[in-house]
This record gives sequence, C-alpha cells and structure tokens, in this order.
Amino acid sequence: MSVDLVVRNCTVVTPAGRTPDAGVAVEDGTIVAVGKSDRLPDADRVLDGEGKVLVPGIVDGHIHNREPGLEYKEDWESATRAAAAGGVTTVVGMPNTDPVIDRPEHLELKFDRGEASAHVDFQSYVVVTSENIALIPELDEAGAIGYKIFLGSTVGDVPPPNDGEILEAMEKIRKTGKRLGFHEENGEIIDHYTEQFKAAGKNDPIDHSHSRPVIAEQEAVERMLTFAEETGAKIHMFHVSSGSAAEAVARGKDRGIDVTAETCPHYLWFTEDVMREKGNPARIQPPIRDAEEQATLWEVGIDEGAIDSIATDHAPHTPEEKKVDDPFGNTWDAISGFVGLETEVPALLTFVNEGRLTLEEWVRRHSTRPAQIWGLYPKKGSLQVGTDADFTIVDPDLEWTLEDSDDLHSKNCVTPFVGESFTGKAVSTVVRGEVVYEDGDVVGESGYGTRVDVDDV
Ligand code: DOR
Ligand code: ZN
Repeated sequence: MSVDLVVRNCTVVTPAGRTPDAGVAVEDGTIVAVGKSDRLPDADRVLDGEGKVLVPGIVDGHIHNREPGLEYKEDWESATRAAAAGGVTTVVGMPNTDPVIDRPEHLELKFDRGEASAHVDFQSYVVVTSENIALIPELDEAGAIGYKIFLGSTVGDVPPPNDGEILEAMEKIRKTGKRLGFHEENGEIIDHYTEQFKAAGKNDPIDHSHSRPVIAEQEAVERMLTFAEETGAKIHMFHVSSGSAAEAVARGKDRGIDVTAETCPHYLWFTEDVMREKGNPARIQPPIRDAEEQATLWEVGIDEGAIDSIATDHAPHTPEEKKVDDPFGNTWDAISGFVGLETEVPALLTFVNEGRLTLEEWVRRHSTRPAQIWGLYPKKGSLQVGTDADFTIVDPDLEWTLEDSDDLHSKNCVTPFVGESFTGKAVSTVVRGEVVYEDGDVVGESGYGTRVDVDDV
C-alpha cells in the first residue's frame, strides 16, 4: 500500500505519552496510521522528521482575525498566515469585528471571507448582547462554534447584557449544547477606577493595569459560576490572567459546574513589570499581573489543573494605535491587545525546556483540550486514525530570539515578545495532509483553510 504522505523519524507526543522513532501516515487528508517509523506504509511523499517532535495540530481557541470590517489591522489571510508560521492548524475568531458577529448573516459573511482566504482551518464565536438573545437558536443553526459575552468594556465597545439577560441567554445556550465564554472583567469596577485615575492625572501604562484590578476579574468569574450553577449552562473563562481568578475557577469545578478556562502565554511569561519596561505595546485587557498573582496562576492554574487550555488572544492593532513611538506616553490614548500566534508555541516550549511543563501537558492544553472544549475533538486535537491529518512538528531545542517584529507574518506585528529569547519553535505545519509551513516559509495556498463543521465532528 502506498499513501499520500508519511512523516517518519519523529518523537510523537500526545497527552497520553511519547513514542520515539515514530510518525504518521496520511491519505486523502486523513490519518491512516500512527506508529513506529518502520511500521508505516510507503508514500508518494516522505518527510524525515530528523528526530524532532510531532504533535497533534495546535488549536488556538482565541484570536481576533479582525475580518470583516477591520482589515486595516488584520484579515483572515494574514491571521492564518501567522497561524501557519506559528504551528497552529485551527483558529477560532472573536466576534468584535465590524459588523459584530451577532446574527446569522454576519456569521455567514465571516465564514465566507475565511473560506476565500484562510491558510488553516477556522471557526468563529458569535457575541451575545441585549439585542440578539432571541436569535440564539438560529445562530446555532448557522454553525457557530460557541458564544461570547463581553462583561466589561473592551476593544470594540460591545455593551454587556444585564445580569437578567445573561441568565436568559444561558438558559437558551444550554439547550443548544454549546458553550458560552466570557470576557470576564466587571465593567463597573473598571469604569470607576478608570475615571478616578484619569481625574487624578495617573496616565502611565502601569496605571492602565491597576485600573482593572484582579477583583474585577475574580468577581466576574464568581458571578458567572453562580449563574451557570443555576442554569446548567456550560461556560468558559477566556484569558484568565490572575491566580485569584484561577482559584475561583477551581472552586467552581469543585462545585461540579461545567466550567473550562484558558490562559495566555503572556500571563505566564511576563509580570506587570513589563508595563514599566515596554509600556503601551504590552497593554492588554485583562492586564498582565504582579509576580504573586502569576505564581498562583502557575500553581493553581497549570500545576493543579484549573486552567484547561492555552490560547493567544492574538489581537493585532497598528503601531500608531499601540503608541509604539510613544511607549510611555498617556496610556489612555493607547489601545489594548497584541499579536501572539507566532510566539505561543515558542513560549510554551521554553517552559517545557525549563521543566515547568511536560511536553504531554503542553499538547493537552494547546491542542486536545481546546478541541474538546469547543466540540472539535477528535477531528481536531488528536492523532487518531480516521481524523483530520493536522499536525505540528517542532524543534524543542532551537534557541532563538525574536529580534524584529517585522519577522512575523501578521499585518501589524506589535508584541511585547520582541527581544525575548526562546528555546523551541514550530518547523512544519500540516493541515489535512497539506504542508502549509516548512523551512521558514508559509507554502500553503490562501483559501485552502476551511470552516470546521461542528455538527460533523
Ligand atoms: O486587549 C484586548 N484586546 N482585550 C480584549 O478583550 C479585546 C482585544 C482586541 O480586540 O483588541
Ligand atoms: Zn480576546
């Protein structure tokens, strides 16, 4: 038997363990064998993994691809080009675009744009506001992967529903079987301190961080846990930034609530000192926390397991919007968010190299769990026979420094990771059996990526 593609001579790693001198075989975009190199069939194309590590394709459940409407920042093509270069095979786009993704026609528009230009596979959340709660069943029919509510004001000014509306939305979403995720920051607390700080003339980048205190995040987690306990809705906490919020998630899990949580590489890598060192380019919502909160995020979130998944919150903005030329200038004029798709695998492999995470735990949080949380597993997030042949090959020992943000593939590449040194990098990215990134180049076609049909997993 001869198949389309075989990759040999890798250490294959899944959450269940690792197999040296192994690989995968692919036919028609699907995995047909996984195992020791010498047991794999002949193939039209054979890739020698040269002893590197092969894992199920990375699934990033949180990117802002900005299309439709904000293409001056990023679009599906550029976001998924960055994904391919970063070793990411599936991305899920956030709904704070223009128009916001709040009705079936907008979701279809977003899907159509993705079909036309994406390099890797994709999906999209829909936002829930006061205006569209009645549309939840229709949005489900339209193929949304899940729902998002912004609880506090953030980029895009999508107003939060009130607590009664949130309860009603949870009832409706529970019936769809899908999951509702939150931007979990209490807007009233943030608005209060933001106004107070502005009036007092506090306008340094670190003041932005302190205007959004940990309690704003922790309270929002706890309130949504209470509502989920009442309604039985499945909920998710996007971008958990603090140990205190991770502890709240852990308490929710102990209560038997179906809550999942993600954190992002920047919360594990930097402390709030980055605001004093790099200023506005590092501004993000929720903000990067102090060392104590970060230590608890590692301990309770990663070591004890309150955090299920890792995603980037890839959020491109122009250098002008980020005040790159005035990094310590008035922070209230700067925007929040930065890119991450090409530094997430390196950051996590660096943690692996430092002994803070095993390869298996990395794969579980960066591929398998996000696929499970959003209903894409085992089609995505596994290396099982019969599933999509999505995989990422990484060099876990490669030492490198991100010297220049222009080396990245997004339209706008501002990131506080410039100047940081890593051990590890994605070297090849394969989506449904097609190599989309190798030897430093994105080689896949724009438009090859397709929407993952959540009803067909
Ligand atoms: O910093 C952020 N940027 N936080 C968000 O919640 C939204 C994001 C964006 O869209 O830029
Ligand atoms: Zn986000």
